[in-house]
Amino acid sequence: MIQVLHISAECYPAAKTGGLGDVVGSLPKYNTQAGVLSAAIIPKYSLKWINNEEWATVYQSAVWVNWRQWTFRVQQERTNKLGYPLFVVDIPGLYDRPGIYNDPSGSPYGDELERYITFQQAVLDWLLSFPWQDRPRVLHCHDHHTALIPWMVKYCPAYQQLAPIPTVFTIHNGQYQGAFGWNNGHLLPPYEASARGLLDWGGIINPMAAAIKTAWAVTTVSPSYLYELHQNSLGLESLFRQEWRKQHGIVNGIDAQVWDPATDPMIQHRMEGPHISTFKTRNKRALCEWFGFPHDPPLISFIGRMVGEKGVDLLPDTIRRFIHAGSRASFLVLGTGETWTENQFRSMAHQFPGRFNAVIDYNEALAHQIYAGSDFLLMPSRVEPCGLNQMYAMRYGAIPIVRSVGGLKDTVPDIGEPGGEGRGIRFDHFSLEDAGHALHRAVSMYHNNPDIVDHLRQKVMALDFSWERTIERYFDVYRSVGATIAPVQTVPDSEAAAEIPPVVKKTAARKKAPAAAKTTASPSPKTTAEKKPATVKSTAKSPKTRSKDDTTKSKTSRTAGKPAVNKPASKTKTKKQ
Ligand code: GLC
Repeated sequence: MIQVLHISAECYPAAKTGGLGDVVGSLPKYNTQAGVLSAAIIPKYSLKWINNEEWATVYQSAVWVNWRQWTFRVQQERTNKLGYPLFVVDIPGLYDRPGIYNDPSGSPYGDELERYITFQQAVLDWLLSFPWQDRPRVLHCHDHHTALIPWMVKYCPAYQQLAPIPTVFTIHNGQYQGAFGWNNGHLLPPYEASARGLLDWGGIINPMAAAIKTAWAVTTVSPSYLYELHQNSLGLESLFRQEWRKQHGIVNGIDAQVWDPATDPMIQHRMEGPHISTFKTRNKRALCEWFGFPHDPPLISFIGRMVGEKGVDLLPDTIRRFIHAGSRASFLVLGTGETWTENQFRSMAHQFPGRFNAVIDYNEALAHQIYAGSDFLLMPSRVEPCGLNQMYAMRYGAIPIVRSVGGLKDTVPDIGEPGGEGRGIRFDHFSLEDAGHALHRAVSMYHNNPDIVDHLRQKVMALDFSWERTIERYFDVYRSVGATIAPVQTVPDSEAAAEIPPVVKKTAARKKAPAAAKTTASPSPKTTAEKKPATVKSTAKSPKTRSKDDTTKSKTSRTAGKPAVNKPASKTKTKKQ
């Protein structure tokens, strides 16, 4: 029986634009490994990984949204290859598209409201079909796309049978709250009149606010970010303060099995034994050759979405100043995002060959290689709820240079702080001066104190950021809301996969709008072979290949010295919501 059901818009490797996908992709696996069988459910997008898997239909039905009946199927990945059951909700007309949030040209889909409301109702409709004793013990909702569920189960008569199940809502990004006007209120399922106020914040419907009010527990992905939300959360500050009792800040883990320098198939040279400096030198050499950098100066990289939140707009001038000051370092950036920033980076690559290069792309394999080959990873974020990249970087021996915000503050103590806990270099203010100063500190340490750099690398690579360490914190939260989760002896994969029986639903038992045929469908076998993850190749000539479902255009800034990198299946967008 599934004890915890994670409900989300993203789940790696099926669908990912950022950290949300990584977390929802790994949390259920580690829950399950700890004996608490957990599953994830996301919409069925038309993306490469999803299209290549085999799915068994376990439920089909229909929900009414916007006076329209949406038929849907819930399907389960047949082989349980992720280490937990993954379900998708197939809603033809709403999700069978090649992007998660945006179309291939980068424009957001115009009907996101209808999409999320329908998805959430479909999930609940499916859960109603479980015999009560087989229902999950916790519904764990992630970000605004699933934020109406805690409210729906309490106040929509159609779903109230599920009200006894504790709901936990995790905020990965408080910038996106999913708000919409009351003129679209008719999209919601019928609800008790008294529950209207719970949807409202500032005169509009705000799903994130509704979840903060109605979920049994609210978590966010680091204690510092929780504190920051109380100070500044685009209007929700007083609500956060009011509801503080049920809030918890829990730093994310990383999937230490995927992010393992000793086994990672995406990097050029794996870590062998304790030989950190050989590992770093070889991987750095590979990167420097691809990008035409000299080998001696430190290599400082940025990886991520090129958006305001990530502070990436600070980089062009910081790097220009640094180069003009004659300091010795090379810079590499990888990501896509706002056009202004992308263009700045393109022109800098032409202006500073051998010092700066940019790959305007979303490329998981190249990202792994950059962590392995860089000396430093720069994260100047304006807002950073947790941040996973600094943890990936540390695991691969790249020392983080971060702004002191959110999860960065919690995971990267500065080397100058008393107590000898330092893991990297931190700066406080979002300014050219502070960022520039941090860079100079890093570079001077690299040139003048190589022994400190070696020591730091050793230290950060030995840190344990795995989920095993933090999973208990989530179990505590589940227990704090009365969920009767109980670790059981390891569930064999096959048994776990078979755990959820196909269900027949009685339409008549439901009060909701017009009848929809609900039957048990026979599994629909699809036999596309599973793709292996792509590996990085070092031939400088051949261009990167892109999966056809990839929704951003590959725009490498320079034509010379590009790495040949195959994107692994399933990568999608770089823009969050
Ligand atoms: C979002 C946040 C990031 C966090 C991730 C996973 O992408 O921006 O800081 O690490 O979610 O929780």
